[in-house]
Amino acid sequence: MNKEIKRYTVTAALPYTNGPVHIGHLAGVYVPADVYVRYLRSRGRDVAFICGSDEHGVPITIKAKKEGITPQQVVDKYNKIIKDSFAAFGISFDNYSRTSAAVHHRTASDFFRRLYDEGKFIEETSSQYYDAVAQQFLADRYITGTCPKCGAEGAYGDQCEKCGSTLSPQELIDPKSALSGETPILKETTHWYLPLEKYEDWLREWILEGHKGDWKPNVLGQVKSWLDDGLRPRAVTRDLDWGIPVPVEGAEGKVLYVWFDAPIGYISSTKEWAEREGKDWEPYWKSDDTKLVHFIGKDNIVFHCIIFPSMLRAHGDYILPENVPANEFLNLEGNKLSTSKNWAVWLNEYLEEFPGKQDVLRYALIATAPETKDNDFTWKDFQGRNNSELVAILGNFINRALVLTQKYYGGVVPSGENLTDEDKATLEEMRSYPEKIALSIEKYRFREAAAEMMNLARLGNKYLAENEPWKVVKTDPVRTEAIMYTALQIAASLTTMCEPFVPFAAEKLAQMMNIVAPCWDEVASKEILIPTGHKIGEVSLLFEKIEDEAIDFQLQKLEKARMENIAAAKAKEPAKEIITYDDFAKMDIRVGTILTAEKVAKAKKLLKLTIDTGLDVRTVVSGIAESFSPEDVVGRRVCVLVNLAPREIRGITSNGMILMTEYPDGRLEFVAPTGDVSNGSAIS
Ligand code: MF3
Ligand code: ZN
Repeated sequence: MNKEIKRYTVTAALPYTNGPVHIGHLAGVYVPADVYVRYLRSRGRDVAFICGSDEHGVPITIKAKKEGITPQQVVDKYNKIIKDSFAAFGISFDNYSRTSAAVHHRTASDFFRRLYDEGKFIEETSSQYYDAVAQQFLADRYITGTCPKCGAEGAYGDQCEKCGSTLSPQELIDPKSALSGETPILKETTHWYLPLEKYEDWLREWILEGHKGDWKPNVLGQVKSWLDDGLRPRAVTRDLDWGIPVPVEGAEGKVLYVWFDAPIGYISSTKEWAEREGKDWEPYWKSDDTKLVHFIGKDNIVFHCIIFPSMLRAHGDYILPENVPANEFLNLEGNKLSTSKNWAVWLNEYLEEFPGKQDVLRYALIATAPETKDNDFTWKDFQGRNNSELVAILGNFINRALVLTQKYYGGVVPSGENLTDEDKATLEEMRSYPEKIALSIEKYRFREAAAEMMNLARLGNKYLAENEPWKVVKTDPVRTEAIMYTALQIAASLTTMCEPFVPFAAEKLAQMMNIVAPCWDEVASKEILIPTGHKIGEVSLLFEKIEDEAIDFQLQKLEKARMENIAAAKAKEPAKEIITYDDFAKMDIRVGTILTAEKVAKAKKLLKLTIDTGLDVRTVVSGIAESFSPEDVVGRRVCVLVNLAPREIRGITSNGMILMTEYPDGRLEFVAPTGDVSNGSAIS
């Protein structure tokens, strides 16, 4: 198994184009993949970093219906948003394609046809749910119902989001069409299935035996549970009008299942890249000396560890992944990320709200990456990672080293001739970091790797603090030169060591030092990283403090989303039972004006109001004191139910009721006419 690796094909899960990318996607997939790839490039490895938009599948057609646009318009919109935000964020794909590209349609279609021709599929006719009103079969998310496993309502035909179970439509209790809300009927249809059970033994051996030492425990665990449950034939086609047509005669109206075509997108995207770069794509997918690594989130494990490998195996020409370092999920401020609840930090919004601060989010996400268990992102932690690590450790060290160099030597690197044993030991320690960080990265432990990088900056800080060049400079110029020379070597090593984690800062640092970052192995082996006599460039701050206001703004945004969710849930409260017009007409509601208001003793909710109703001036006791103080309400126009039977409240007779509505947080608001109607006008 110790074959020499000649090249790397690194893939990141193709994002669905039905919404922008959020921090959960970044932390789970794109940031770790990008750290890995930047590291490999720095070691001079031949890498293809591959991604693209996943543009098929039911959720996209549902989104299109909801917004009254075509699926093509949906994917065009989000493909652009996603692609642009990845680029602005510094995710350094070699190619970002889309599954609507012609090269992909051809590749996926050929792949299917090859398996079809070689008899790798089972063809089967069965009864499936059909919406007789919409005249459409109901695949996957087109059908919802009660989860048979956990009893949650609103489970989908392919999955229950509540308990995470994989489902098939006919397991759902009380199924309903997501298109019309109708109860579906059963209708016969023919599909092609990949008989996964045939690959079970092979998968067991390849993964559970072959990779038990190098795949992550969470990945092995999921694979084992799938295999222990027993695999079944998996349909690879759907009755749907959005996707890649099934390239078989008599299959009109059928498309490839999105999870059949999407992973083939890695291959198509590689082809597109190779074509553009004048390279041969085939070694990246067909050569044994290529290391294929899939970066994904945990909800994608079965597709990348069981289904796609079985497809590749059935095909026969392709290599298999060497590793699938799936991450767990990232939560946000204690709650599950949710697109529909807008409980997320959207990458495109972050980029607008924190211009130039890509590295901060990236670093915070690496530091809290859900590598072995679900983890929580909080804005306070984000601020802390910036202020106490990026600014206070890395930025501080760089700033001191470079500013002092400017100050003492006009920016010219001083002599390194008189290094003490301690200086040499410090440099030796510096040279151990590339190996240390590499070991963590090669094991996909990116948090650990980032922490080690920060330790290298700590080494620099500690070195300066102990040697105090700012004091020594007054008495011993020769010693000062050695100290600054040593510090500058550490700073130069950081241009390389920090690049996978904070690439924008790394570039800025290289510019400030006026060097090309040394490659990874040079940091470990080269005696001199920045030579005596070299003139560094202009110095500015690498990172800036993030103030409380910026954090509060983000927390308020989330608070708003939370309120809107509560409101949406309330709005969904079922309407009261039907009444007749006569019931309604019995109520006499008039416009009035509040004349006086006072608190009711020992009742924190109540205000005693006198109201001019146009008919009379009367007393009304109202439960609005938690939303308004008396002086707020005097003069307010209101609507009053004037023929409500009088009631005794806290010893006061209340003659009527004013109409109020409620904000999501429970605060009340008056229901009042907007125009200048006079008191006594009837509401009808
Ligand atoms: N679009 C899928 C998701 O977001 C991932 C597809 S990965 C691929 O969960 F392998 F299919 F490309
Ligand atoms: Zn469930």
